[in-house]
Amino acid sequence: MAFEEEVVIKTDGLTKIFEKGKKRQVIALNRVDLEIRRGEVFGLLGTNGAGKTTLIRVLVGLLTPTEGSAYVLGKDVTEGIDYIRDRVSLLPQEAGIYDRLTARENLIYYGGFYGIPEDELNKRADHLLEIVGLKDKEHYQVKGFSGGMKRKVLVARALVIEPEIIFLDEPTTGVDTLGARVVRNLLKKLSSEQRRTIILTTHDLNEVSELCDRVGILNDGKLIATGKPSQLEEKFRAANLEEVFTGLVTGEGVYGGSTP
Ligand SMILES: Nc1ncnc2c1ncn2[C@@H]1O[C@H](COP(=O)(O)OP(=O)(O)OP(=O)(O)O)[C@@H](O)[C@H]1O
Ligand SMILES: [Mg+2]
Repeated sequence: MAFEEEVVIKTDGLTKIFEKGKKRQVIALNRVDLEIRRGEVFGLLGTNGAGKTTLIRVLVGLLTPTEGSAYVLGKDVTEGIDYIRDRVSLLPQEAGIYDRLTARENLIYYGGFYGIPEDELNKRADHLLEIVGLKDKEHYQVKGFSGGMKRKVLVARALVIEPEIIFLDEPTTGVDTLGARVVRNLLKKLSSEQRRTIILTTHDLNEVSELCDRVGILNDGKLIATGKPSQLEEKFRAANLEEVFTGLVTGEGVYGGSTP
């Protein structure tokens, strides 16, 4: 980034504990300190169960923190959630799509909640359905769609409200190679041309290298590394991000480098 943009997400010692019965608990987020600036594409990495979805759910107000704090667009998530929800959108990891509605209706219905005028909403829906390649299927009920097609509807739906911050929990999982490229290009453009902030999770490290300005690696609820992909490779003297990632999360260290 050419100049320092404002911080739009900030967490301090953010902790989320799930109680599972009397004696067992899961520390899904363990004292996470994180800052993300406007216009960044930030990738959250981590193995299954590392805490990625939990972090996103806390930041959009679907879960309350157990300890610590989280601020989005300057508001505390436990107090200013209405303000935040008007300005951010979420592509959830699991469903959230309305099966009985058509692709187009999914977008219109969602945008309607945000009070976007009908004319404007129709324009945006036309544009987004075109971009994700579903214009010819816009009047079909989503229940007949494949998994990847549903993800595309959800990507378009998340964008129809033109949010300042877009959280995408595995946007390209199950989407074919061409579709994933379309989604990535769209996200890049939103970040570079419109200064939208994008936080995404993915298990595809090539996607991260191509798309993300910075990444955060979560392991067992702890944020164990953050930085530009190239910085992390350099810091750990690794050949690529995959080497950094596997070295850190297996605890074996990164070849040639050292773990912090
Ligand atoms: N609603 C919940 N109730 C109880 N435990 C939960 C809940 N949500 C998540 N967890 C637990 O918190 C931990 C973190 O889960 P989370 O879904 O955040 O992982 P993730 O990094 O998104 O994994 P994945 O890559 O599989 O999507 C896991 O141990 C999970 O079992
Ligand atoms: Mg998840």
